[in-house]
Amino acid sequence: MVSSIKAFFRGRLSHQDTDLYFISLFILYPSIMKKTFSVIICFVTLIVISAATTSYKPPRFKNLKILPKNITEAALDSIMNYFSISLGVKCAFCHVHNEEKKTWDMASDKNPDKLIARKMMLMTNGINLKYFPTEKNAKQQEPIQTITCYTCHKGEAIPISIAETKEEDK
Ligand code: HEC
Ligand code: HEC
Repeated sequence: MVSSIKAFFRGRLSHQDTDLYFISLFILYPSIMKKTFSVIICFVTLIVISAATTSYKPPRFKNLKILPKNITEAALDSIMNYFSISLGVKCAFCHVHNEEKKTWDMASDKNPDKLIARKMMLMTNGINLKYFPTEKNAKQQEPIQTITCYTCHKGEAIPISIAETKEEDK
């Protein structure tokens, strides 16, 4: 290959010129390669940085022990709203709220009602799986919510367990 290129130049340039040309090519070659290489490195770095800043999202929720860790924000929001409505409470009933700083620490487990709520989630899932088994339950490994927080709580933090007796029943 090299000799055929040399032969091509030989027709046009003197023997010395071709040799000089090739010598200079080999001297320049590493620095050309270095430049190309650093340009490539720059591009790769840029791509990696932009990919990292645009598509990498840190785990949104830090302390999920029952709900799936990759749950979407929308799904978690709707579950939390559902808990609140079912028990007739606000977020602060289960979560830590700093009144002075007006900040929330949703991941904290310092509020005992959050721990009760976790047990209640397990209990509710357990009742559904054990006593209301369906084909879908078995396939999806995800309990159908036949019994929900609302089934018992009906908008009360502590469910009313004693049936009301009406006047005409007496
Ligand atoms: C009845 C109790 C209860 C109520 C009311 C409640 N939550 Fe929660 N919340 C929980 C429990 C329990 C978890 C943890 C679930 C788990 O471990 O999988 C949680 C987890 C969360 C998380 C995830 C925190 C993390 O990083 O791990 C957020 C965010 C959150 N709740 C927001 C809210 C908001 C906003 C409200 C009000 C609309 C609310 N919650 C109302 C019980 C509650
Ligand atoms: C089978 C009925 C039942 C279901 C279903 C149920 N709970 Fe409960 N829950 C109770 C009872 C009964 C109490 C009151 C226990 C007591 O008196 O100590 C209670 C108490 C609680 C408390 C403590 C309230 C307080 O004031 O201390 C929280 C929090 C709670 N439940 C959350 C939930 C959540 C969240 C769900 C749904 C995932 C749920 N519960 C589903 C029956 C139920």
